Amino acid sequence: MLLSREEMTFDFGGARLDPRKDKALLGWMMNQFLYGEVTGIQCGHWLYQAPDLEAARFFSRQAVEEFQHVDNFLRILELLNETPQKAHGMVRFLTSGMMPRTFEEHVCLEMAQGEGFVLAALYAVIDTIDRPAIRDILVRAVRQEERHVDFGERRTVAALASRPGLRRKLLGLSLVSNWGVRKLGAFMRTRLPSEHPVLKQLPAFLEFTVATGEKRLLRMGVLDRPFAQLSLSTRMSALGAAYLGTLAGPLRRLRRPKRLTETYLQDPQLQSRADAAEQERLRVVQ
Ligand SMILES: [Fe+2]
Ligand SMILES: [Fe+2]
Repeated sequence: MLLSREEMTFDFGGARLDPRKDKALLGWMMNQFLYGEVTGIQCGHWLYQAPDLEAARFFSRQAVEEFQHVDNFLRILELLNETPQKAHGMVRFLTSGMMPRTFEEHVCLEMAQGEGFVLAALYAVIDTIDRPAIRDILVRAVRQEERHVDFGERRTVAALASRPGLRRKLLGLSLVSNWGVRKLGAFMRTRLPSEHPVLKQLPAFLEFTVATGEKRLLRMGVLDRPFAQLSLSTRMSALGAAYLGTLAGPLRRLRRPKRLTETYLQDPQLQSRADAAEQERLRVVQ
């Protein structure tokens, strides 16, 4: 990943979450994660749209992993003695309500940024939860989430290298999702007890997470300077690029990108194997 575990770790100063005293709050949090994992069904959509064999393989494996995570969160809810409940509206909006239109938007917004936010939240629970059984389940799951974020980052960087014009639109969409994360933070602030040792640090944690996301956008090359230094006209034009994309959606559907079933013979992975086999054949002939 472009950011290390240390860079994504918020210092809660030794404060802990108690699985008995904080049972209801932990139940609420696990139900948000549970919803996020069920949005793993969207891997099916992206598998169908995968531009190459590497991406297709990745999405098929990712779907298996996300549904293992569904079981993980159900297990954690059982350990907490809490029940599966509906997720908050903003969580549903951020994870499934604004599903992107293209592969490039998906890898940047949902995998690098979105799963990056989830990863920071999972690290925070791992670092504060006072129950080894729950921590162990989460530690196993984050290894897979790190791979999902890494794939999102790598494919965003590759997409920008081949199509630099994409940057403005990805920036516009990032501005919208950042706004959503801040909104979720504002909601949490009104709902959570301010005297709790972990929860009172939540506003600072959220600012930290947004800053982490900003660092990731800078390292991927979506941002060329921090958010605060973007002029109003840059913001407006980025939002415009993202918004005009929505209007152009129906047009784009008429000329959809080719599916893997039409392109696999030209696929880089398949080609490099074929090239290697050809070289080997020539070597044997000589
Ligand atoms: Fe997951
Ligand atoms: Fe994931």
